[in-house]
Amino acid sequence: MSNQHKIGWIGLGRMGEPMSKRILNNKCDLSVWNRTKEKAKPLTDAGAKLVDNKADLATCDIVFTMVSTTGDLKEVLFADDGLLSKSAKPKMVVDCSSISQEGSGEVRAELEKRGVAYLCAPVSGNGKVAKAGKLSIVSSGPRASYEIARPYLAMLGRGETWVGEGELARVWKIAHNTMFGVIIQSLCEITVLAEKAGIPRHVFLKSINDSVLGSMYTTYKTPTMTNLTFDKVTFTPKLLLKDMDLGMSAAKAQGVPMPAAAATRESIANLVGRGYENVDFSILLVEIAKSAGLELTPDNVEMNDGLES
Ligand SMILES: NC(=O)c1ccc[n+]([C@@H]2O[C@H](COP(=O)([O-])OP(=O)(O)OC[C@H]3O[C@@H](n4cnc5c(N)ncnc54)[C@H](OP(=O)(O)O)[C@@H]3O)[C@@H](O)[C@H]2O)c1
Repeated sequence: MSNQHKIGWIGLGRMGEPMSKRILNNKCDLSVWNRTKEKAKPLTDAGAKLVDNKADLATCDIVFTMVSTTGDLKEVLFADDGLLSKSAKPKMVVDCSSISQEGSGEVRAELEKRGVAYLCAPVSGNGKVAKAGKLSIVSSGPRASYEIARPYLAMLGRGETWVGEGELARVWKIAHNTMFGVIIQSLCEITVLAEKAGIPRHVFLKSINDSVLGSMYTTYKTPTMTNLTFDKVTFTPKLLLKDMDLGMSAAKAQGVPMPAAAATRESIANLVGRGYENVDFSILLVEIAKSAGLELTPDNVEMNDGLES
């Protein structure tokens, strides 16, 4: 039986909310906690239990975490009011956030010292991809822990992979998100090029999606880039900058030159520096257009994001 464990979930943001809901929809025993309590409503409405304190989740067998940064993860686990602040402890913590290899190693050392198994399980996708059950999840840590968590990881998406011991899944995610940044940079540049030369934006984007270069990613960004609906936030410029910085640090640590990633990191830093905060990262398109002397307007054309089930 796959749903024999008591599951806890910390972090009900854009990703955590739809991910935890998939666990709940698979008839699991799910308890949740979120710093901003109101965000738990969709989960409690669907039958999840809401706890008042993170430490109340320590009696769960497996606790998933989906927060922003390494610092946030350490806080929810180890702070005075953290998950492990009382005597009870879960058997395993599975962290799905995108954090650094070093930070993850520190979290592992602390958890293992306290007798709690730790699996890194970062994901590829966004909130809508999560809702559609199309995330992919890559894990690392003890193989035995992975096998215990695997049925629940399988509920989150369309494929789960174990890449090895320790923090290797962090390296996978950092590499993945570095490419995620480089692709949006390039897609915005060529879209502005095509539009300035006279090809309507929606026509160009659709033709790229239909070409050998098209992907789930280019397709699901197309409606936003066509109609300039950047208020529908999937991922913020600030989080992308964090990931590009993780990519550049990893490149330095491994001695790997990454010129395309370096240029993209600076471009995303410009975006953050210009004050774009609670907005979709693909607003990069507008800034690149401005640099090309092009003022964009919405195409107002309905485009398929490829994620409707
Ligand atoms: N969005 C994407 O497309 C995407 C895709 C793959 C991976 N990721 C990664 O997934 C992680 C979450 O991303 P997201 O888009 O879901 O972010 P988000 O919408 O900003 O949600 C962040 C979550 O973490 C909680 N949190 C942050 N700091 C905390 C702290 N110090 N103490 C307690 N709770 C804290 C937030 O609580 P509040 O609700 O109280 O703010 C919220 O529940 C990030 O590491 C991100 O890089 C995101």
